Amino acid sequence: MASPRGQWSGKLGFILAAAGSAVGLGNLWKFPYITHQNEGGAFVLVYIAAVALVGLPIMMAEIILGRRGGLNPVGTFRTLAEGRAGGRAWQAVGFMGVAAGFIILSYYSVVAGWTLRYIVLAVGGQLGELAARPHALDEFFGAYAADGGAQVLGHALFMGATMAAVLFGVKAGIERVATVLMPLLFLILIGLAVYAATTDGFGEAMAFLFDPDFGALTLRSVLEALGQAFFSLSLGMGAILTYGSYMRKQDSIPLSALQISALDTLVGLLACVIMFSIIFTFGLEVTASAGILFTTLPAVFYQLPGGGVLAAGFYILVAFAALTSTISLLEVVSSYAIDELRWSRRQATLTMGGGIFVFGVLNALSLGANGPLSTLNVFGEGKDGMFNTLDFLAANWLLPVGGLLIALFAGWVLAARESWDEVRQGHPGGAALFAGWRFLIRFVAPLAVGAIIFSVIFLGMEYQ
Ligand code: PFF
Repeated sequence: MASPRGQWSGKLGFILAAAGSAVGLGNLWKFPYITHQNEGGAFVLVYIAAVALVGLPIMMAEIILGRRGGLNPVGTFRTLAEGRAGGRAWQAVGFMGVAAGFIILSYYSVVAGWTLRYIVLAVGGQLGELAARPHALDEFFGAYAADGGAQVLGHALFMGATMAAVLFGVKAGIERVATVLMPLLFLILIGLAVYAATTDGFGEAMAFLFDPDFGALTLRSVLEALGQAFFSLSLGMGAILTYGSYMRKQDSIPLSALQISALDTLVGLLACVIMFSIIFTFGLEVTASAGILFTTLPAVFYQLPGGGVLAAGFYILVAFAALTSTISLLEVVSSYAIDELRWSRRQATLTMGGGIFVFGVLNALSLGANGPLSTLNVFGEGKDGMFNTLDFLAANWLLPVGGLLIALFAGWVLAARESWDEVRQGHPGGAALFAGWRFLIRFVAPLAVGAIIFSVIFLGMEYQ
């Protein structure tokens, strides 16, 4: 007998859990450094367009499919595709999603582990000492990344916390964690943004972010913006689909999708404003761009009264933001084992979580600790090592391809009557909105994603 499936306690429960999945290291760590690498303005615009035209409709599609299918990604595609074009082959999209969840969590948890180390450093006072000496933060970060034991420890602790939350299930674990942590996270971010607005570098930061120079744009940056939109919104692998399967029928799909996407984008932009204001104010050089969050930001906390407390508080919140995301990654993989393999939640969580931990050790060792793992290169410049390779593979290939297939399924295979049926419940009178979504999901999203993938593969547009 399959156990009864969980359900969110209400509209807010779903929104907070899904926003918890979306808001994470992707916003606070990745978005600022990718934006920095891609030279700001134009990249930010392309990113916002990708969220509005591709991300938002695909988020709606995932919620529609999830709530209608009522299962994990594999089961949902199997059920909904039965007797239609493509039939069982659609299950492959679900499998790819589960695999992407496994892969992403295996390296995401390593970075999440860094936040734990920084909390300890801040509380113990060492972070303040590092911040006081020029270049000491960079040097520390470099040495820390290459310390295999420390990397595996952080990864293990974070996987442990993630598994603990997923073990408690949808309402008592996932929703409860998000309900407590998300409001706290917003408060702190707003506080930091207000501080950033008073710094001298604020104007320069705003210009860097919102005054586009299209000359800096390459095809690779467009692909990266799209990949980042998928990653940041947790799309293309069935995480939002899985959370949608726990959604009550009376809640509005368009409204939830809009709120989640808007929140996520706002957090990413706020993180950029905060970090670039600080970078420009203090004339900091960004040496380890992947490490902005860990090398640049700490310096500033100690310019302020009570710096140690601020720093500790901040890294605790980054850890929380990461946790609500790792929970959703593991939930995708666990829900697959629960629904399809008929495992208990406990068995699914422990086995899958354990497997992800073991695989992730390779990533933990690929930041300098192990030679071959750290230098392996498939995707070209700036993508050295297994960690960066998997990140590039997942964010720029698995998620966009998954998103494309989800869009095609929701737009062309699922009948309009069925998707309308889902949208209508909880959002009566949304006919015009539904028509707009149908247009985006049938034409705009697949064409945009398809064109980018096509040009990268077939027009020989190289990554560099
Ligand atoms: N959206 C998360 C972030 O921005 O950090 C990462 C993520 C979570 C990606 C869940 C994909 C996913 F399914």
